[in-house]
Amino acid sequence: MAVETDIMKKVPALDLEAIRKDFPILSQTVHGRPLVYFDNAATGQKPLQVIETVDRYYRETNSNVHRGIHFFSDKATRAYEETRQKVKSFLNATHEHEIIFTKGTTDSINLVAASFGRKFLKAGDEILISGMEHHSNIVPWQLACEAAGAHLKVIPVLDNGALDLAKFTELLSGRVKIVSIVHTSNTLGTVNPVKEIIAQAHEKGIPVMLDAAQALPHQALDVTQLDCDFLAFSGHKLFGPTGVGVLYGKEKWLNEMPPYQGGGDMIRDVSFEKTTYNELPYKFEAGTPNIAGVIGLGAAIDYLNGIGYEAIQAHEAALLQYATSQMEAIEGLRIIGTAPHKASVISFVVDGAHPSDLGTLLDVNGIAIRTGHHCTQPLMARFGVTSTARASFAFYNTLGEIDIFIKALKNAISMCS
Ligand code: ALA
Repeated sequence: MAVETDIMKKVPALDLEAIRKDFPILSQTVHGRPLVYFDNAATGQKPLQVIETVDRYYRETNSNVHRGIHFFSDKATRAYEETRQKVKSFLNATHEHEIIFTKGTTDSINLVAASFGRKFLKAGDEILISGMEHHSNIVPWQLACEAAGAHLKVIPVLDNGALDLAKFTELLSGRVKIVSIVHTSNTLGTVNPVKEIIAQAHEKGIPVMLDAAQALPHQALDVTQLDCDFLAFSGHKLFGPTGVGVLYGKEKWLNEMPPYQGGGDMIRDVSFEKTTYNELPYKFEAGTPNIAGVIGLGAAIDYLNGIGYEAIQAHEAALLQYATSQMEAIEGLRIIGTAPHKASVISFVVDGAHPSDLGTLLDVNGIAIRTGHHCTQPLMARFGVTSTARASFAFYNTLGEIDIFIKALKNAISMCS
């Protein structure tokens, strides 16, 4: 059984027994074994507080928002808008109307790529992303480049999985119209020096978008302190519902950008001759939104605030350190992504064992990891692989679960070789 690490001794410990009781799925068994859920980078589990908030919304409130004068429509609208206020505080944004509810990170990035692209991109311009982007921070920009005749430029990734910052400085030419970069890599776990990247881009007047989907489950972010221009995240990775996400955008950009989608709620006045658009944030929220999802996201934020990011970070650092040191000792195992600043995500390959075989053998032991390209095919190519196995930890995971994982992994490797 694992002992406490030095990092854990320095910070107030999480009450893991109580926390784990909040997550009903964690007491499930898989193939007769207790579930060990190490696929948190794909989606986080949901605490009862979120599940019950969504359930209560449908039982006690369900109505459309911004549309009715009746009691329940007003109640639903208040709960929906209260979440906007919660997200504003969570990110420390200046204005509530800088918070746009979307379907998720992918939707948020598509919104900016399409709308910013339509307004500000022209032939010959450049968009700068990095070599460790998720497909959702590559393809929308490729579409925007195609529409405008602009070019996509890519900051290379070093062998340890950190960004090549010298190359970033070189690539930041006067032709770059926007930098869009992942804060924390879903595949490598690398935490990028985004404050420095933003400061450098701003010296040249270039706005920066952050993909924070994998960052916020592990650490707090302050958009005012970072001074990012856009930030996207998903509810489901933050222990909230699926199908809901957020785009934060500075008012000055959102005001200048054209609507992304047309429909109800985003208009002020419609005639067949001319339509005028609603003010922020509604200009970017066409159609009936995911009301239950938004309200559930509010409950997830309350839950995280109740636990506190300081304790979450310390616990996850201990999990990462403990798992990494044991995995490094396994012969033939290579961790892909060893940058000095990492979140609790470990991608790895093992000589002679296909990642999907490892994943299947671990599943038999009740252990859920992800295998594949993790929607980062260019990054896989950079490291000369087509897929990896990935274990990703959340604050509710334990050192004991890592012991179970390591033992099962060693058995799986011996069965494959
Ligand atoms: N982007 C998610 C992952 O990394 C789905 O697994």
